[in-house]
Amino acid sequence: MATLIDGKAIAQKVKEEVALGSQKLVAERGEDARPNMTLVLVGSDAVSKRLVDLKAKDCEAAGITPTVIAMSESTSEEKLLRLIDRLNRDDDVKAILCQLPVPDHISTKRLLAAIAPEKDVDGFSARIDSDDYDVAACTPAAVMRMLRESGVDVAGKHCVVVGRSNIVGKPMAIQLLLNDATVTVCHSKTADLAEHTRRADILIVAVGRPRFITGDMVKEGAVVIDVGMNYIEGRPVGDVDFASVEPKASKITPVPGGVGPMTRAYLLVNALTLAERRAK
Ligand code: GUN
Repeated sequence: MATLIDGKAIAQKVKEEVALGSQKLVAERGEDARPNMTLVLVGSDAVSKRLVDLKAKDCEAAGITPTVIAMSESTSEEKLLRLIDRLNRDDDVKAILCQLPVPDHISTKRLLAAIAPEKDVDGFSARIDSDDYDVAACTPAAVMRMLRESGVDVAGKHCVVVGRSNIVGKPMAIQLLLNDATVTVCHSKTADLAEHTRRADILIVAVGRPRFITGDMVKEGAVVIDVGMNYIEGRPVGDVDFASVEPKASKITPVPGGVGPMTRAYLLVNALTLAERRAK
């Protein structure tokens, strides 16, 4: 039986740390120093809208002032980029998040590139050559914290990351490397995936396919981190087939209640860091 890594409980601790940090910043530097976050939502996708609402609520609870800007599905790329430009120039705006995915007629790459790095609260523009990610991509940073809190030291371990997205897989591999792990990155074109996953001491899965990793693909005693959030008949399901993997793992994250709440908590950590940087 695996020990559950309780993302919800760790996220609560992280949120309390951010709330204290925010309180301290305001006490020392005044109300103008208070962290804030502008959340841009394009379109009416129900899941995205719910996530933005949750992020705004998280902000409020942590002493970070949220502003939500909702734009219609038909908003042009030009109009959205003009908005980002205006937010970039606005001295009162300390952190910008544009909820993904955006409608197909908008280039995600151009959109993310338009957000000023010093306001990029998602940490998407963290540089690959940096050895000091103080504003790191939220999900990988959240995973690293969950491993630390669970007493898992990645140094010298074989970590297998399944997925190579710019948001999770690639920055995850870098954060693991920076912490002295040996890293294998697998993806949709990897030949004999199970051959690789079975060698993982720590297996991190972010492929967006429900119950994709099954028990036969996991080494006895592995630590398994499930970044997936898929919906089957309206219920959240991870990328890991929990029922067959859990008996083999030593530690495992549940879905829901695992990586998801921690990613959102790390957004708050980044918002505080951006505000602290500015106050300096
Ligand atoms: N959509 C799903 N996850 C994320 C995220 O981490 N950041 C943004 N901006 N959009 C998302």
